[in-house]
Amino acid sequence: MVERHALPSSVGTRLVTVASGRRLRAENGGKRPHFGSESGSRMCELARAQRGSRFQERPAVAMVPDPFQIFPVTGGRRYSEVQIDMNSTAFKPIHPPVRTLMGPGPSDIHPSVLAAMAAPTVGHLDPYFLQIMDEVQTMLRQVFQTDNQMTMAISGTGSAGMEACVVNLIEPGDKMIACQNGVFGGRMADVAGRAGADVTKLERPFGEVFSTEDIAKAVDQHKPKVVGIVHAETSTGALQPLEEISKVVHDAGALLLVDCVTSLAGLPVEIDKLNIDAAYSGSQKCLSCPPGLAPVTFSPKALGVMDARKTKVASWYLDISMLRNYWGGDRAYHHTAPINMNYGLHQALRLVLEEGLDARFARHRLHHEALKAGLEAMGIGYSVANAEHSLPMLNSVLIPDGVDDAGVRKQLLNEFGIEIGGGLGPMKGKTWRIGLMGDAAQKPNVLLFLAALEQCLATQGKAAGAGAGVAAANDRYLKA
Ligand SMILES: Cc1ncc(COP(=O)(O)O)c(C=O)c1O
Repeated sequence: MVERHALPSSVGTRLVTVASGRRLRAENGGKRPHFGSESGSRMCELARAQRGSRFQERPAVAMVPDPFQIFPVTGGRRYSEVQIDMNSTAFKPIHPPVRTLMGPGPSDIHPSVLAAMAAPTVGHLDPYFLQIMDEVQTMLRQVFQTDNQMTMAISGTGSAGMEACVVNLIEPGDKMIACQNGVFGGRMADVAGRAGADVTKLERPFGEVFSTEDIAKAVDQHKPKVVGIVHAETSTGALQPLEEISKVVHDAGALLLVDCVTSLAGLPVEIDKLNIDAAYSGSQKCLSCPPGLAPVTFSPKALGVMDARKTKVASWYLDISMLRNYWGGDRAYHHTAPINMNYGLHQALRLVLEEGLDARFARHRLHHEALKAGLEAMGIGYSVANAEHSLPMLNSVLIPDGVDDAGVRKQLLNEFGIEIGGGLGPMKGKTWRIGLMGDAAQKPNVLLFLAALEQCLATQGKAAGAGAGVAAANDRYLKA
């Protein structure tokens, strides 16, 4: 089904698809085409031709406002009093390139999400916005697979979600175990230390995961109030199994805090089934919304711990006892919510639920398997110690010997418009991180990337068998 979003004609609308943008850019000597020009109508033509072909899995066609017109166009009801002379400043209107975002996030955004974000701003206490907030909460509960009343979107990126969870659960001197097998576990330990926790950092090498025994031993020894762990470690591509760990953490009387920044909406995050007490995510990964909001959820037990605090939460901005009055209860003003970001998240969540969680997880898995088959056919292996623990949405692979990491990433970006990530921390220069998150998890992206990578490796005299990657990926698709 193709969704169309009608916008006020004064704003100006255009029919755009991600792929047609890319194709037109290629035809236009690498430059982004201008709308309203000949290429604009060519774009409409391409968009029509694409329906039912390239975008069968996820139609990427929508009516979106042209951001370059919203500001200068003055003929509409709302903008008519503001005449802006666009030549009066040395600064040009923004003109971002169209990229294929296959890095560790942000991921490709569905045009209808961008369209939702361009809708008129209302006040943060407007009944219309309060309704949007309610719906965002309801949809987040479904995606987190929880009945937790206290489920909402923190204003800020994934790190704000991390801080919100830690500072509300921790009081100075409380014991916390932070499990570090990558960069983000380390960040959680840092945040906990700053919140005054007595932190024990439990470490595994990058690319490995924690066993139940590791955690059982640590909780037995340290008797923590909170155990924090990363479900999908974006810096290493490792998926942490949680079921058994949740049991040992709760048997020890501790709370389980889980980082789901990269896993939410790409893998099952079963908050209630796994008895997770607090979890946070980010809008820009498998939810395919721009960065800026951090979905969080707290169990009734976690709320009880917060209610029993003896000290004030160290952060005013992230204090859940106040935020919950705005997101529920009496709707008391706390801070001015980022209205249009919430519109975007609302639409992104609608798309997730329209696709269905199971279908979405299966889509991430399929494209990961095709990509993996292609990479392996090109002689490129994964960096995760045990293949069973490879994340579908973040493929961390070993850079072949003698290949210039930065050179390949630069060529991918400049010649093919594809962004991938380099390694983080000790993986810097050793791995590439190839994201297949949310809207980016599509067959055209997988095949385009494999073909482009082959060209980049050929530039460095390191190409493996011509077309081997694409052929192997196609084989996987044929079996789907
Ligand atoms: C697993 C994980 N946790 C936390 C974060 C921090 O999120 P943000 O960069 O949105 O603040 C990230 C970001 O990549 C992440 O991948």
